[in-house]
Amino acid sequence: MTSKNILVTGGAGYIGSHTVKELLRRGYEPIIIDNLSTGYRKLVVGGEFIQADLRNPDAVRQIFSGHRINAVIHFAASCYVGESVEKPMMYYENNVLCGMNLLAAMLAHDVRCIIFSSSAAVYGNPIHVPIREEHPQNPINPYGQTKSLFEDILRSHERLYGMQFVSLRYFNAAGCDPEAEIGETHEPETHLIPLALDVAVGRTPNLRVFGTDYDTPDGTCIRDFIHVCDLADAHIRTLEYLMDGGASAVFNVGTGTGHSVREIIRAAERVTGRSIPAVNAPRRPGDPPSLVASAEKLKGAIGWTAQHSALDEILSTAWNWHKKLRGCAD
Ligand code: UFG
Repeated sequence: MTSKNILVTGGAGYIGSHTVKELLRRGYEPIIIDNLSTGYRKLVVGGEFIQADLRNPDAVRQIFSGHRINAVIHFAASCYVGESVEKPMMYYENNVLCGMNLLAAMLAHDVRCIIFSSSAAVYGNPIHVPIREEHPQNPINPYGQTKSLFEDILRSHERLYGMQFVSLRYFNAAGCDPEAEIGETHEPETHLIPLALDVAVGRTPNLRVFGTDYDTPDGTCIRDFIHVCDLADAHIRTLEYLMDGGASAVFNVGTGTGHSVREIIRAAERVTGRSIPAVNAPRRPGDPPSLVASAEKLKGAIGWTAQHSALDEILSTAWNWHKKLRGCAD
């Protein structure tokens, strides 16, 4: 299976590990590199795992020398908006410089096919929703800036060296492996759904709702939640599109439907059968009121639509994993 060796950077993280599991299920042979700074070895369920750091160009080159790699899926990154404001240089190093080390090793070994983890954060505060890919990019934090910058670098590598890329701009990744073998684990956790589930398991007494006076129907922020298994599918399908000769492109990965913070809390109560007390809290700096994707471009290019992103499926898969993570019985 010579065209099946896929290098997955950051494959021990949340979205990376779900993609690795799906690659294995579809007969690919992933080679996973991760420095385990935020990833977990136990989330990697197969393939060859190499603990390595993209900050070290020699280590990256050696991996390419030692393996016949056909294509790369590049997840490895720092991905906390708040942390990026406090430590911008860390974000430029991890999200831009490391990516350039990877591209240099790819070119040196004639590997010219890469799927890149980008983010809705490249749009900043949207002028209109749903957000199409042509929407102006005006990122409002270093996290979004580094994602936007690396997309520019990919475009210039395409012009200069014929690098073929797909950049996937994720909206809000959520949900977990339906088998609950792997799932979402962040330290510290800042995301809405796992924090709501922490209240459901009794780990924290209540959920803070950041901002209740937004110009939205119930006053809370609206987000487009996309199941991590749909994201994994989008990576593999766009990889196949690229390997079949498809043109480089940037795609949103979302559902086209938004849900408010209050809707998520209600859905989490329904799915868990437990009460999730919420307290009103001030707005969190940097939160746009509404982030909803137009998912039309990806649908038009490869026929992809989300299959697992109904709220109850997102929440029930997240709940099954979360109980296991927190050591809770049913
Ligand atoms: N929220 C709360 N209470 C919490 C946590 C979150 O009310 O305890 C709210 C947030 O204010 C926001 C919504 O829930 O309105 C979603 O917040 P998350 O932190 O779960 O997700 P974000 O939308 O902030 O972040 C996502 C991705 C980031 C990406 C960003 C782009 O996780 O990687 O979208 O804006 F950068």
